[in-house]
Amino acid sequence: NYYAILMAGGVGSRFWPVSTTEFPKQFHDMLGTGETLIQKTFSRLSQLIPKENILILTHESYNDLILQQLPQVKQEQIVLEPAMRNTAPCILYASLKIKKQNPDAVMVVAPSDHWIEDEVQFVANLQRAFDMCEREETLMTLGILPTFPNTGYGYIEYDKLDTRPIKKVVQFREKPDYATARKFIQSRNYLWNAGIFIWSVKSILKSFEHFQPAMFAHFMDGYEAYNTDKEALFIKENYPKAENISIDYAVMEKAQNVFVLPATFDWNDLGTWGSLYDKLPKDEQDNAVVNATVILENASNNIIRTEGKKLVVIDGLQDFIIVDKNDVLLIYPKGKEQDIKRITTMANEIK
Ligand code: GDD
Ligand code: MG
Repeated sequence: NYYAILMAGGVGSRFWPVSTTEFPKQFHDMLGTGETLIQKTFSRLSQLIPKENILILTHESYNDLILQQLPQVKQEQIVLEPAMRNTAPCILYASLKIKKQNPDAVMVVAPSDHWIEDEVQFVANLQRAFDMCEREETLMTLGILPTFPNTGYGYIEYDKLDTRPIKKVVQFREKPDYATARKFIQSRNYLWNAGIFIWSVKSILKSFEHFQPAMFAHFMDGYEAYNTDKEALFIKENYPKAENISIDYAVMEKAQNVFVLPATFDWNDLGTWGSLYDKLPKDEQDNAVVNATVILENASNNIIRTEGKKLVVIDGLQDFIIVDKNDVLLIYPKGKEQDIKRITTMANEIK
């Protein structure tokens, strides 16, 4: 009864110039391990979930990339969105497709572009969450111990007095402002939302019906067509009409039956060059080098990446992102990594 939906529709714009709209970060070997992020995620999930029960959700333009990188996946496992509408519409749509195959399914929703190294702990956590969701009507998330007031994450408040391994959530707050995030961290009973959700198909559909009745009705209109040859036409016409909203705002912030399992594995959402730098091996001067051969003098705390083998010579540079890619060379201070999103837009206009 185990299913997974793998979300692979993001464009990873802060990882420009490696990640682009045509070729987003989940399809790159960001860590230099020989596997792309989506390949790593797929193999991690398939330790617990039958391969044929893993659906990949993405924009239709990435279909070929998925078939190339995951040859074990059949075309009918790839759910193609004609337009990007954030995570709520695609999760609802995929959940209805799974319900039609197996109304008793329990499923995990997983981003395709995160770093999780300890697969044993990951699988153990997932198993625990599945067990709970088979017994009870809950929406489960995996929580990460926060280390700083990151305003790009969702925060999960649990009851301080709750000593059970899986805790009842008091409130779920998506992307608070900095002052609020600081207060949360100081309270010590908040966790970051890893963006990995576990629930039964029944529970999540019930929540959508309750909190997003219009969206629910919109996608129920096509229920007859799902998993048949009529599906493509229905989706082409109707998917783009769905509201653009994330699952965090659409359901998680509103639901009362949310539980959190504090994760026992290290997690990093690889959102920026800096977070990737944290996860890469480093030399004595704390430079992280991917693919390149380097001669470095007076250079420290840099991340240096070339496409293939290339000699890079640097003298006198600290805390920079240096990324070389055929037609683009980026030399940018690490401290301003959030601005790369804006640069991407400018660069696309020039091209
Ligand atoms: N198929 C599909 N379609 N996937 C999508 C779409 C879409 O329209 N939009 C986003 N995704 C995928 C992204 O590729 C990513 O893997 C995942 O869904 C989450 O989307 P993000 O855009 O990265 O969300 P976020 O980082 O702003 O916030 C979420 O993740 C944080 C942890 O990384 C939230 O769940 C936060 O609460 C959470 O802390
Ligand atoms: Mg993200």
